[in-house]
Formats: sequence, structure tokens, C-alpha cells
Amino acid sequence: MKINIKNASTIIDKYRGKKSALLAVLQDIQEEYNWLPPEVLTMVSEKLCVPMIDVYGVATFYRAFSLTPRGKHLVTVCLGTACHVRGAPLVLDRVQEQLGISPGCTTKDNQFTLESVNCLGACALAPIVVIDGNYHGQTTTKKVDAMLAKYKKKRKPTRKSKKKK
Ligand code: FES
Repeated sequence: MKINIKNASTIIDKYRGKKSALLAVLQDIQEEYNWLPPEVLTMVSEKLCVPMIDVYGVATFYRAFSLTPRGKHLVTVCLGTACHVRGAPLVLDRVQEQLGISPGCTTKDNQFTLESVNCLGACALAPIVVIDGNYHGQTTTKKVDAMLAKYKKKRKPTRKSKKKK
């Protein structure tokens, strides 16, 4: 995946030489690219004077960071015990059907990444699906269709689709 390295340089330069800013830099980079590209992590290491092992230590510690490209929308389905007994497997099946991908994968158009987790700490709302940080409790397969339709509508028009009009 081709990335615009110039943006990373601008972000990192704001914190140049500040070892303590590692977490803040990684947050900004994750926000910019939706993941942490390896070449950018090398730049972070060099410009902040932080060893690569420490950069990767932080990058792999927090769930908010991704070392692989993520889609525009992150869909998380909880498969913990409470969610499982209240129908989470059916919910996950529906999400997979709708998006055409399995957990850990991203749609070809880079719009959605799907992941599953084992308890989000909100079991009373089981089964739960989280989309871009928004919790959807007591989810059913019907609700999945409506929820995803809403996010699919948010897609930006491509150059191609604009020309068609
Ligand atoms: S099991 Fe799903 S939130 Fe706890």
C-alpha cells in the first residue's frame, strides 16, 4: 500500500527529539493513515531517538494501534461468554455475510475491517458490536443490516462514480 510519507514527516517533526512523545506521535500517525506503516515507524525511531524495539513495544501494546492497514471503519464483534450465549455467533455470521470478509480482514475497497474480541466489559448490553468506537448493544441480525447500511452510506464518492453522474 502506497502512503504519503511527507505527512508522517510533518507529524513527527512536531515532536522531534522528544522521547516522551512516542505515544502521542503514534496516535497522530494512526489517525493519519489508519495504521502504522513500517517505514513510518522507522522514521519515528530515528527522529525521536527511540530504539525500534521501544517503538514496536508501544505499537503492539495498545489495541488502538494497527500494524496492518485498516479499513475506514472498524467493526468489532464481541464473542465473549455473555455475548456468545445471547447470539453473538449469529451476529458475527451476518456481519461476515454483509461485508464478505472474516475477522482480521479488510474489505477490498478499504472501507471496513472486521475483528472479534472476547469481552468488551459491557456484558449487560450483550451481544455487542462496536463500529468506530460506537457501542451497539442487544444486537440482532436485523440490526446489523441497518447499522452497516448506515456506515456504507457514509462512503465518499470515488472519482469514477462522480464522473458517471
Ligand atoms: S462478553 Fe461481550 S461484552 Fe462481555
